[in-house]
Amino acid sequence: MKRTIILSLLVLCSAAVADAETYKWTDDQGVVSSTDDPAQIPSRYRSKALKVEDIPIRKQEKITRRTGITAPRNVAAPESVRSTHVQNRGGNIMAYTAKDYARLIGMAGFSETMLKNHFTLYQGYVTNTNKLLDTLAQMLKDGKAANPEFAELKRRLGWEFNGMRLHEYYFETLGGNGKVDLGSRLARKKIEDFGSIEAWQKDFMATGAMRGIGWVVMYQDNVSGRLFNFWINEHDQGHPAGCMPILVMDVFEHAFMLDYGLKRADYIEAFFKNIDWKAVEARLK
Ligand SMILES: [Fe+2]
Repeated sequence: MKRTIILSLLVLCSAAVADAETYKWTDDQGVVSSTDDPAQIPSRYRSKALKVEDIPIRKQEKITRRTGITAPRNVAAPESVRSTHVQNRGGNIMAYTAKDYARLIGMAGFSETMLKNHFTLYQGYVTNTNKLLDTLAQMLKDGKAANPEFAELKRRLGWEFNGMRLHEYYFETLGGNGKVDLGSRLARKKIEDFGSIEAWQKDFMATGAMRGIGWVVMYQDNVSGRLFNFWINEHDQGHPAGCMPILVMDVFEHAFMLDYGLKRADYIEAFFKNIDWKAVEARLK
């Protein structure tokens, strides 16, 4: 019932973005940028910019809250998106741009098809985060902030934004050799907080093997400095306040089922073999 109401409200709200168009261009460094404001396209790339017909949120995605799968239909291939910067969108509002994780293709234990599907899902979260931020800003400007549509979109922002950011935390610490430096600061911290590195890993893996789908996140509490392994059921729910995600593992079905079926433990093993522990440790305070 609640979902029906939300979807109905999205249908109403989507009118504001239904006719928008997105323009994409590639600069001399190979960075792909996009905007819905043609005036923002640098003049030297204007003639080369491609117009991509925009699709409103309600049409663009097929989401099930159970799996968290977002399937955008017209998102550019992951190889073409290299930018990590945000860009100006006709004022001071900055749009998020999908990062390129194509370097991960070829990683042992992760098929190209599964990775590319995952990149596309991630890009959908970036697109929808930008759309929601734009729509909410416009509604605020139009004096519609007290409308129920505004409230429902505002609630949805946590889902889309965290869907974007958690995937970035996940992809950015993959591509390593999985070897733990036993003398590293992170290793010492795990021993301090869990008794041993093995105990930390056992806890993290057991959390990942729990029934259900979601995220496993090793956080560092910014107040005490302590490490915790958390189960996150939904992108936008259950995150410990004031804690920094240090290591993020996606255990939604789309992250492993294509290659591993129901053998989630094998996926978790593969995940560990590809962790870039230096990148993980760089997040440690
Ligand atoms: Fe995912």
